[in-house]
Amino acid sequence: MSVTSCTDAVPRHVAIVMDGNGRWARQRMMPRLAGHRQGLEKLREVVRWSMEAGVAVLTVFAFSSENWQRPTDEVSGLMGLLAKALDREVPELSRAGVRLCFPGDREALAPALRRSLEAAEAQTAANEALVLNVCFNYGGRWDIIQAARSLAQRGEPITEASLSAALALAHVPDPDLVIRTGREQRLSNFLIWQMAYSELYFSDALWPAFSREAFQQALSDFARRQRRFGRTSEQVGSAGQVVASEA
Ligand code: IPE
Ligand code: IPE
Ligand code: MG
Repeated sequence: MSVTSCTDAVPRHVAIVMDGNGRWARQRMMPRLAGHRQGLEKLREVVRWSMEAGVAVLTVFAFSSENWQRPTDEVSGLMGLLAKALDREVPELSRAGVRLCFPGDREALAPALRRSLEAAEAQTAANEALVLNVCFNYGGRWDIIQAARSLAQRGEPITEASLSAALALAHVPDPDLVIRTGREQRLSNFLIWQMAYSELYFSDALWPAFSREAFQQALSDFARRQRRFGRTSEQVGSAGQVVASEA
């Protein structure tokens, strides 16, 4: 029996493209940054809902490699929001047993912000209730390139296993379920390697308006899916277990 072919009722790893903050704000005649602020509040809720549901890893897309192309005041607003969120949230998250990680390219970030990210990671490194990956200045293509470069520098052969181990999310299994809010149905350079066999779920809700019901809907939709990983549905069986053992 192969564990990887099961659709467990609860996804171990949920990844979310938190999209729709700007449109949420515009609908309310508010500045885009107000939407991002509200999006941060939503993230606090989703962390709680994930822990209550028994999810072990939550990975969120907070700032993409391509988001630098936005107006400079929005970019600096997002940087400031992250810095403030770190100051405000880390103690409480740590008390709740959350381990924080910030996959992404830190080279382009301000030194003070980098130090805060490193401090938050160090402070929460031993926590085990939930791994929260906040992908910041992250891009799937950046990730694959940095992994390939580090293998080349160490003179290691490039295999599926060695490349996976050099990626920014090597500390967690691949996402079981990827949710994108905000009505768009695209990957936008998120975890393009790690999503190879993830179940995708698209929600029409704009991220600040993503409700607990909508989150539960995504989890229950996931529970009904049959993950086949290339096998036939007969091989996998109705409960997700592998019924045919021949190679
Ligand atoms: C997602 O919301 C947050 C970030 C990309 C930082 P958007 O800001 O993309 O919201 P829309 O897509 O413009 O509504
Ligand atoms: C993806 O959203 C990035 C984040 C949620 C951080 P975007 O709003 O940047 O995606 P596109 O540009 O519409 O594809
Ligand atoms: Mg968007």
